[in-house]
Amino acid sequence: MPTQLKYSTTPGKDTDIVLIVQAAQPALPDDFSKEEAAYVQEQLSQEAKLISLNRYTHRIYLVATATAKTQQAGHEALRQAGYSLLKQLKADKVAQITLVDTTNTGATTYLAEGIYLSNYQFLRYKTKDAKPSPLQTIVITGTDNTDQAVQELQHVLEAVNITRDLVNEPNSHQSAEQFSAQLEELGQEAGFKTDVLDEIKIQSLKMGGLLAVNQGSEDPPTFTIMEWKPEQPVNEKPYVLVGKGVVYDTGGLSLKPTPQSMDFMKSDMAGAAAVAGVLYAIAKNKLPLHVIGLVPATDNRPGGKAFAPGDVITMHNGLTVEVLNTDAEGRLLLADALSFAQKYHPALVFDLATLTGAAARAIGKEGLVAMGNAGEEVMSGLKKTGEQVHERLVEFPLWDEYKKHIESDIADLKNLGGADAGAISAGKFLECFTNYPWVHFDIAGVAYLHGEDSYRGKMATGAGVRLIYHYLRALAQ
Ligand code: BES
Ligand code: MN
Ligand code: ZN
Repeated sequence: MPTQLKYSTTPGKDTDIVLIVQAAQPALPDDFSKEEAAYVQEQLSQEAKLISLNRYTHRIYLVATATAKTQQAGHEALRQAGYSLLKQLKADKVAQITLVDTTNTGATTYLAEGIYLSNYQFLRYKTKDAKPSPLQTIVITGTDNTDQAVQELQHVLEAVNITRDLVNEPNSHQSAEQFSAQLEELGQEAGFKTDVLDEIKIQSLKMGGLLAVNQGSEDPPTFTIMEWKPEQPVNEKPYVLVGKGVVYDTGGLSLKPTPQSMDFMKSDMAGAAAVAGVLYAIAKNKLPLHVIGLVPATDNRPGGKAFAPGDVITMHNGLTVEVLNTDAEGRLLLADALSFAQKYHPALVFDLATLTGAAARAIGKEGLVAMGNAGEEVMSGLKKTGEQVHERLVEFPLWDEYKKHIESDIADLKNLGGADAGAISAGKFLECFTNYPWVHFDIAGVAYLHGEDSYRGKMATGAGVRLIYHYLRALAQ
């Protein structure tokens, strides 16, 4: 059962509540005793961020906010406060918590978001000592909220956690076919259509990139099409989301080393999982947008039939590619999906992919790398949304000169760039398969974390879901 978000105009009697107060000028409720008020003041003067009062019938937690540099920084501080608060709520075994904002700044939403996302757990394979979180329900109050807004938030946060579940699922339980079946189930639950193309269909479509990566696998590839098409969408041409669905990346014959490399490559379908998460949230919230999700999926393995460095393959759009490293597999199957996307005459295409270690090395786990040709308006819109949801992005260039990095001696392209600018040469490769406004997001640094990072947690983060959802939602307005 996912954490429940509920809306109530006022908090009930004797329930555990959180008061969001301004540290400098706390507006404490009338029912605070003199002793309580003095204690809170004393704690605040020592710069306490989280104060708790035990009234025995219920507890009161105070989250103190300070003036932040920007509004977005203030919102992010609240999400992070949600993470600290959850630790306390768990220790106190609180099952339901009610949030009250005394600052009139819409703060409950962000605090709730931080608590909700911090409350994520992946316990599926724990047979003992599972320790499920006691917190089940978060109640948001206040006249600046509505039932509908809280519902919408719940669906988006559910989508993030669904994405995290998909990413954390190990390849032992998630072949390409199993992954597609999970996406079909999600479609049924949320109300979007799914169509899973099988190997024969993929062969007839001549998706040479996807088929080449799949050659070493014991399992067939899949190509999943998800579609949300409401009655009267505001967009005439669809928005298409493409996600890298490598359910496991060994590197293939260009084998990866195990530590801190192959050992977490069950997460190489995080782009695809994020696309599914966005479709889930859009469908659940019935946004008036026509959106299509495309997920090419396979594992990448060595083996007798595996594709090999030096091979030349022919892609879905007819271009030939010299494969110089089988570990640069993501761009091969993404390229086929991007080329397939042309048939929809899309208004805009986003692809999300754990594509290169180079992107992660360039900017770390603090942001997404983005590049494309969709133009200034789209890019600045994305950057703005990124600040709002704190999934910030850095734009990398796709200058003509980078094309040289992927010129092959014998084919139209090679799948390997030079030693430098690896995230860009991968993006430049993808660009060759697009003929529409397009942005590529390299989420290799943010999709999966090796240590706990506030409300993003440890392991899968669901990166990209809130960013893309909120960007598209604004287009629906
Ligand atoms: N899935 C990896 C990229 C990756 C690295 C994701 C680290 C998450 C964390 C991708 O398929 C890959 O192996 N890329 C190679 C490309 C290289 C061979 C050009 C890389 O980044 O090393
Ligand atoms: Mn790889
Ligand atoms: Zn990969």
